[in-house]
Amino acid sequence: MKLNKYLYYENEFVKLFKGDMETIIPLFDKKFNLILTDIPYNISQKSGGLRRLDYGNWDKQYGKEKAWVDAMLSVLKNTIIAFCGDNQYSYIKNQIINSGIPTTRAIVWEKPNSSPMNGEKFYLNSIEMAVFGRKSKSYFKPKCKRNIFVYPTVSNKDRIHPTQKPLKLFAELVEDCTKVDDIILDPFAGSGTTGIVGCRKKRQVYLIERDLVYCKKIKKRLELETQNRRMSL
Ligand SMILES: C[S@@+](CC[C@H](N)C(=O)[O-])C[C@H]1O[C@@H](n2cnc3c(N)ncnc32)[C@H](O)[C@@H]1O
Repeated sequence: MKLNKYLYYENEFVKLFKGDMETIIPLFDKKFNLILTDIPYNISQKSGGLRRLDYGNWDKQYGKEKAWVDAMLSVLKNTIIAFCGDNQYSYIKNQIINSGIPTTRAIVWEKPNSSPMNGEKFYLNSIEMAVFGRKSKSYFKPKCKRNIFVYPTVSNKDRIHPTQKPLKLFAELVEDCTKVDDIILDPFAGSGTTGIVGCRKKRQVYLIERDLVYCKKIKKRLELETQNRRMSL
């Protein structure tokens, strides 16, 4: 009943909850086969020239990482993949290991079309990292697969969120770590990428997003996805 108060939208595969993940997660009465998410990296800085470097207040929540990871681990059944900033990586990896998941790995998303910003002074920033942790006996499809995933960043025409992840990247991770009908949580939903993957790959996805503007965008994106599915049947 309390949880229903936060339900903003649902379809056959996705439930979207509007609110703070720290408030909503304790209301769940289930654990998730996969938690696939992209936490705020807290890297926003004053925008310079034509470049947007300030993503908004959601990306300035310094010191919240421990509470976020604790909340996610409290409802984890099998596997967690948490994209994070390089400054957050070791901290989150240690927190996951200390929770009793003995082995973690890095996942590297390599961007062949990385931004040329400051290319004359530094190496181009061409990767993002995630911590991958898996409880023993959890489903894992690949055999001897390397941990580097190469996908271009989302084009401006398809981008509805400043840190939107490529659909193909999330789809590959979902297929590697879950089976059809498994249940997935993304508590920092952004543009709803994990939800779209759920619709396409027939997984049940719970999304949480705090910002109403992004909840509206996720709803619209999911409605369009459902319409397109109907038209292609
Ligand atoms: C890094 S973005 C996620 C982008 C997403 N992976 C995508 O592909 O679009 C993080 C999102 O988490 C949301 N957020 C930040 N803090 C939150 C919280 N405590 N609870 C729920 N959502 C939160 C922000 O509004 C932002 O949209």
